[in-house]
Amino acid sequence: MSSIDTGASSASTSDLSVLRLLRPGPGAGAALTAAIAAATALPLAAPQVTRRFVDDAIGGASTRHLTLVALAYLGLAVAGQAARMVTAWLASRLAWDGTNRLRERLTGHALGLDLAFHGRHTPGELIERVDGDVVAVADFVVAFLLDVVASVLLLAGVIVVVFAVDWRIGAVLLMYCLLIGYGMARAQRLAVPSAARSRAASATLFGTLEERLAGAEDLRANGAGEHTVRRFHQVAAALFQAERRDARIGTTLLAGTSVAFAAGTAIMLGLAAWTVQAGTLTVGTAVLLFQYTLMVRAPFERLIDQIRQYQAALAGLARIAALLAERPALTPGTRPLPATGPLGLRVEGVAFGYPDDDEQVLSGIDVTLAPGETLGLVGRTGSGKTTLARLVLRLHDPVEGAVRVGGVDLREADPHALRTRIGVVTQDVQLFAASVRDNLTLFRPSPGDERLMEVLHGVGLGEWAAGLPDGLGTELRGVSAGQAQLIAFARAFLADPGLVVLDEASSRLDPATERRIEDSVGRLLHGRTAVIIAHRLSSLSRVDKIAVLDHGKIVEYGRRDELAADPDSRFGRLLDLAGVSR
Ligand SMILES: Nc1ncnc2c1ncn2[C@@H]1O[C@H](COP(=O)(O)OP(=O)(O)OP(=O)(O)O)[C@@H](O)[C@H]1O
Ligand SMILES: [Mg+2]
Repeated sequence: MSSIDTGASSASTSDLSVLRLLRPGPGAGAALTAAIAAATALPLAAPQVTRRFVDDAIGGASTRHLTLVALAYLGLAVAGQAARMVTAWLASRLAWDGTNRLRERLTGHALGLDLAFHGRHTPGELIERVDGDVVAVADFVVAFLLDVVASVLLLAGVIVVVFAVDWRIGAVLLMYCLLIGYGMARAQRLAVPSAARSRAASATLFGTLEERLAGAEDLRANGAGEHTVRRFHQVAAALFQAERRDARIGTTLLAGTSVAFAAGTAIMLGLAAWTVQAGTLTVGTAVLLFQYTLMVRAPFERLIDQIRQYQAALAGLARIAALLAERPALTPGTRPLPATGPLGLRVEGVAFGYPDDDEQVLSGIDVTLAPGETLGLVGRTGSGKTTLARLVLRLHDPVEGAVRVGGVDLREADPHALRTRIGVVTQDVQLFAASVRDNLTLFRPSPGDERLMEVLHGVGLGEWAAGLPDGLGTELRGVSAGQAQLIAFARAFLADPGLVVLDEASSRLDPATERRIEDSVGRLLHGRTAVIIAHRLSSLSRVDKIAVLDHGKIVEYGRRDELAADPDSRFGRLLDLAGVSR
């Protein structure tokens, strides 16, 4: 397993470069700064107005004057709330923009990495990177701006203002804040591991659920439902215990915090009362101090909350950076392939073994196809047929030798030309929960429904397509394995490729359908070079050449008619064994 699985607990400089993707534009940044400043300053000003009101009221000011002061207070309160709303709105927009940028970047990056990488990482793992980690990081960045920056500013503001009113009370407030901060940080050390335990239990529960649901068909068919439910019950019980423990700690902390704040408020109230009686402060100032003391609580609570998220964000940041640092093993070339017509294929002295695997899967492979020629590739299961096909598609590079298509070494070929000029139907067809149209074009711009229908007719799906309720816009679901394969045929021929690789492409079709589409595929292959891999030898009746693979080596290679005519050839004997006429 590579490094993206390890959640390192400290961020390096390259990790921090991920944050650049979350950075807002200069305009949005300035607006956010202004909003945060207003959201901090306005609540700080409100108690000043209250003091004025109380002192003026005691001093016997007119009702008109008091109403004006009260209105000013109201205005401040409304403006303060508005500033907070604008800040929250700006910050969440920033988070969405940033999250989307980061997700897009990661998705594109992961799709651009080659098969060797995807062999090492499951889709589930990558989803966790692109979704879970990105959200943790983006959430933290927003929370950092909203909660950490705003809270620290507000706390500092309160302490400074209280110092200015009465330095002795300011000093007491400062001491009190430091004590509370210390106590909360200590208590958090208890809470964080327990929260982590309950998150892990929840991940196990969902992992189990996902796996069991995905295997529902097999589980039911084998009567394993009851056992599965019992096992699930155990996992759920573990989550319950972890959550209960976490909740107990959480509630205790909350109660402790409330008592601490109540005690602090009482102390401040007592102090204020004492100074008022001593005649050093007015009643209005005492009310002001009391209000400031109350204001200290919320920022503290938000700060403590952030400590939990901070750790998750840091781990997420390290994993995202590690994923972005992964480089494809195949470097793209720039040479174009001939834009039209069939492409010749030359496989020259090719040897190959899968990365992280010492075994040689292919060796000494030489194949030459002139433009328009077709090759039938046969051999026992595991002999290396699909592997050779992958080299022709440049999903891997050969360890020795070269694969040339249209005279261009694939290592130098422009990847875009490669993907459009070479078509493929693989052993396991991947369909998407999307419209028939998108499944054919693979989400690329459509060449028009007429052309799509033409290709569907070509592979024998014309009637099926005509019966779709919303035409090609119908969501694709419930197709049989054979229909899926026909859709894959249509997909491969849509771009009018010059070289086609069909890997067991007709293996799931019933004999009648296979015969029916044999003609249309034959027509589609006309004027194209093709490599056709087949276990069923009857589907190789029209190919020009045959190569027999055995343990990664070509043990027989020649023109089909000559091999079929040769009584001693392996291919001839295979035909006899399969009961196919020579
Ligand atoms: N992604 C992979 N990583 C490592 N080894 C692989 C991988 N794919 C295939 N192999 C190994 O390479 C060898 C050739 O496999 P390949 O899939 O090319 O055979 P095949 O001839 O297509 O077989 P089949 O007829 O069953 O499709 C096998 O020993 C297989 O175990
Ligand atoms: Mg295969």
